[in-house]
Amino acid sequence: MVVEELAGDGRRSEAAAMQLRAQMEKRMRSKDLDRKFCIAPMMEWTDRHCRFFHRLLTRRALIYTEMITTGAVLHGPRTRLLAHDPAEHPVALQLGGCDPRQLAECARIAEAFGYDEVNLNIGCPSDRVQEGRFGACLMAEPALVGDCVAAMTAAVKLPVTVKCRIGIDDQDPEEALEALTCAVERAGAAALIVHARKAWLDGLSPRENRDIPPLDYARVYRLKAAHPDLCIVLNGGIASLDQALAHLDRVDGLMMGRAAYQEPWRLLAVDPLLFGEPARLASPKAAAEALIPYIERELVRGVRLHAVTRHVLGLFRGVPGARAFRRHLATEATKPAAHAATYRAAIALIADLDAPTVAAA
Ligand SMILES: Cc1cc2nc3c(=O)[nH]c(=O)nc-3n(C[C@H](O)[C@H](O)[C@H](O)COP(=O)(O)O)c2cc1C
Repeated sequence: MVVEELAGDGRRSEAAAMQLRAQMEKRMRSKDLDRKFCIAPMMEWTDRHCRFFHRLLTRRALIYTEMITTGAVLHGPRTRLLAHDPAEHPVALQLGGCDPRQLAECARIAEAFGYDEVNLNIGCPSDRVQEGRFGACLMAEPALVGDCVAAMTAAVKLPVTVKCRIGIDDQDPEEALEALTCAVERAGAAALIVHARKAWLDGLSPRENRDIPPLDYARVYRLKAAHPDLCIVLNGGIASLDQALAHLDRVDGLMMGRAAYQEPWRLLAVDPLLFGEPARLASPKAAAEALIPYIERELVRGVRLHAVTRHVLGLFRGVPGARAFRRHLATEATKPAAHAATYRAAIALIADLDAPTVAAA
């Protein structure tokens, strides 16, 4: 469609044609980044240790950082906030903000730091975020979101994506989501990730907003049908890879949040089940062991053991020793003197017969 527009409309100005060409290139580039399976941005959960660990479990998932505000990127401890390990790729930086110029500057910084994608958060309902007039409340300002995305896409070669809800409060999801989608598509977004429920800004906590407003997958399917050229990723309530697979003929990709974090063993089955490739490691126990060199390196850098091992607690399910593993890490890894040996001792509590992962994930 973009090609036809370029070729067919003689009245289009040179500048507009260049802009379209740039958008087309960006979309082509974005195709290199496979969004079939994404791990959601989760504040205080998907930090760099968590992302490194998740990458041990799947080569192919696209991994998101927790949301970082434009203010923090521009004025905070930037290197600490944006640092990531080369092994994390492909990795997307999620930004929170609403000022097109600041977002463009942050996108440039993300590019310089080597991120593969930059994502704008239009789904977070927290009070703090609302006070800053960003996050989910931007669902009511599609034109501003379009300006933000346009400024970001103009600033970088990276694909720019948006993560949103289907609406907020008393918005009609048919209209609200359509208006937002048109705005971001026109502005050159490479993909839209839709958490398939509303956010209720008044009266629900962020946590309640992840469970109480009902899921409406059909609304996201209709969105994809109406926007065949835009990559649409479905998020919300996907509890297993079987469930994820069931959506894939209706949308381009899936994003898993809590199930990926709380039961990371599921991620070992992502490459075989969704990409037809061998699992990265043979078992959860092999994954636990593969994390040891990283832990040793981070301890030398002054990181506390618990900062890494807290992300590993859900790695074993249905394996003899799983509870003892969790208990050992919860009590011992939190001590100031905890060392890699503490972690090794926890792994030793796990029986060698690992639960099958692919079939159950
Ligand atoms: C602890 C936690 C922190 C979250 N932080 C963010 C965030 O920083 N940015 C964001 O877009 N969504 C955030 N979310 C929402 C998730 O990305 C996701 O949209 C939501 O959990 C629904 O997906 P799920 O049902 O697969 O968990 C967070 C969710 C959780 C559980």
